[in-house]
Amino acid sequence: MVKVNGNYLKLKAGYLFPEIGRRVKAFSAANPEAALIRLGIGDVTEPLPLACREAMKTAIDAMGTAEGFHGYGPEQGYAWLREAIAQQDFQSRGCEINADEIFVSDGSKCDSSNILDILGEGNRVAVTDPVYPVYVDSNVMAGRTGDAGAEGRYAGLTYLPISADNNFAAEIPSEPVDLIYLCFPNNPTGAVATRAQLKAWVDYARSHNALILFDAAYEAFIQDPELPHSIFEIEGARECAIEFRSFSKNAGFTGTRCAFTVVPKGLKGTAANGELVELWGLWNRRQSTKFNGVSYIIQRGAEAVYSTAGQAEVKTLVSFYMENASIIRQELTSLGLQIYGGEHAPYVWIKTPNGMDSWGFFDHLLNKANVVGTPGSGFGAAGEGYFRLSAFNSRKNVNEAMARIKSL
Ligand code: MLT
Repeated sequence: MVKVNGNYLKLKAGYLFPEIGRRVKAFSAANPEAALIRLGIGDVTEPLPLACREAMKTAIDAMGTAEGFHGYGPEQGYAWLREAIAQQDFQSRGCEINADEIFVSDGSKCDSSNILDILGEGNRVAVTDPVYPVYVDSNVMAGRTGDAGAEGRYAGLTYLPISADNNFAAEIPSEPVDLIYLCFPNNPTGAVATRAQLKAWVDYARSHNALILFDAAYEAFIQDPELPHSIFEIEGARECAIEFRSFSKNAGFTGTRCAFTVVPKGLKGTAANGELVELWGLWNRRQSTKFNGVSYIIQRGAEAVYSTAGQAEVKTLVSFYMENASIIRQELTSLGLQIYGGEHAPYVWIKTPNGMDSWGFFDHLLNKANVVGTPGSGFGAAGEGYFRLSAFNSRKNVNEAMARIKSL
């Protein structure tokens, strides 16, 4: 009989969003007349930018000609897209990142999990709590943790609690760790990191030879020009960080799929024999073996994000969702709820009222207002007592959801 990967059996429950999906499906089956408004998973709703669609159409037409046909592309992504990313996302902000350090992919979720392929087994891993569940679950699947305890925390992981008490800023670990997951603007709390806070992490990583996995999927939502968008804006980060970026949330590519990961050349880890090894080479090897790249058509669409028209459209999309976030913040604050996030991130993080637990509040909103959100406890034990609403929806739905919640 074939044996299964026993690490999967350690996973506590279904992945958070399918789990919510199951509950919502059951509710809808029992209440077919309920008009649900989904502010749960952070999935965009507004149409793809015209600049991206036009570029994709042109690419499709080119694929229909002998001269313009493209078969397998480079596993790392086409040079023209990597150049545009390096110049406009990094060099324009003073980051020393070159095109060959950009690896185009089909998503940050995949990359932030796949990166474990090139990292060793004995690493001590730190995550915030609450956290984007993919960082934890991918470590469980890869056998980098023990079993889950009663609170759902896995043995072997270092959890760094973030809550209103510490302003959602994790403390630098007191024990030495090798791998640190950071996400700013933060999913799920919507918190952001200042330059000084990121510098403290970079200093820690450099002095402990640790690696920071920096998820910047929501950087486009930062409103304050003083806040850093990339870990590479911090001096020394090239020696200790890998960054994940995505076109999903800024340009609406959740269904289209395009993202990228930045692995600086010269960033090193140690082999079992103590030898220093460049992570760039390992990731390049991993991608060329296990990945065949993002389609030519989609990469042309992503390239158009960097055109003048594309940049203007992305700005409009981001402003639209941030206006939704602002409406959610205002309306819920007027109800006397304690609200965090939603100022530089498309997520609003709410303290559940009257000591209600996170799933209790989920059921309450689902049953009484037919509004779907995400229970904070789904992001970790320290998320208990909190609830996340996503600003990704139409204005009509956001207004309607707020009106329903206010009438409860
Ligand atoms: C979320 O709702 O947290 C996001 O949709 C997760 C993701 O982008 O995978």
